[in-house]
Amino acid sequence: MQKMGFGLVEIGTVTPKPQLGNPKPRLFRITEKQSLLNSLGFNNKGMQYVLKKLKKRTPDIFLGANIGPNKTTPQKDFLSDYQKCVKCLGDYVDYLTINISSPNTPGLRSFHDVENFRRLIAAILKERSLLRKIPKIFIKFSPDEEISKYEELINEINASLVEGVIISNTSNDLELKTAAKVSNLPGGISGKLLENKANEILKIFKKNLDSSKIIVAVGGIFDVDSYNKKIELGADLVQIYTGFIYQGPNLIRELIRNGK
Ligand SMILES: Cc1cc2nc3c(=O)[nH]c(=O)nc-3n(C[C@H](O)[C@H](O)[C@H](O)COP(=O)(O)O)c2cc1C
Repeated sequence: MQKMGFGLVEIGTVTPKPQLGNPKPRLFRITEKQSLLNSLGFNNKGMQYVLKKLKKRTPDIFLGANIGPNKTTPQKDFLSDYQKCVKCLGDYVDYLTINISSPNTPGLRSFHDVENFRRLIAAILKERSLLRKIPKIFIKFSPDEEISKYEELINEINASLVEGVIISNTSNDLELKTAAKVSNLPGGISGKLLENKANEILKIFKKNLDSSKIIVAVGGIFDVDSYNKKIELGADLVQIYTGFIYQGPNLIRELIRNGK
């Protein structure tokens, strides 16, 4: 991936225990809208497996692990699942993404409520302080919340040691799902249909977030124009998922050569 031109790689979402994810089919192309619908549900081999892999890694590329709770964990214990992942993986990555925004784990987005958010951040920063190394902490947000909620959460981040944010995860918005003709299916929309929504949230973060914090923008990057737009709106870094699936590896060279 480094040879393709990527500056960073993020793995995950990783959960404490292995899990299969949701039943198939759980990934759909919406080709005419250059979008995807997915309800994978954190299919992964669990943190111990990932740890084993990370221990073999030669540290050349900036690497992050995206972490979340198991689906079978009761919601009241989600916090402890995040802590387990910080403890297990934190010494072996450059940053940790705290995923509070997948639409495919029931209850996960409740961490967008300010009291829950505050408790989560405190628990994660406490766990991080016990590590040998200090991985950066990024919080990955949903694009489907009220503006006032983002403003509250941004205040919490500004007052904390959290280094940055990722804007945004897939959308559960019925309007987008209707446009994609998949309103009857579970899951989140990514790609072109998500772009405007993710950019609107990006603007709110750029306006209110302390300038010392890092903004990672993701959602609908398909070409130089959509990449440049994120940079113009204030992104420090960008990520690509759906655009990479549709356009393939040449997209990365193209962005490096002709992007801002
Ligand atoms: C197939 C698929 C699986 C995804 N899995 C995860 C995940 O496990 N954790 C996560 O935080 N985001 C996940 N995402 C969301 C992406 O990381 C990204 O935030 C979103 O798709 C918007 O970017 P894009 O339009 O470039 O795809 C997934 C997206 C897709 C399409």
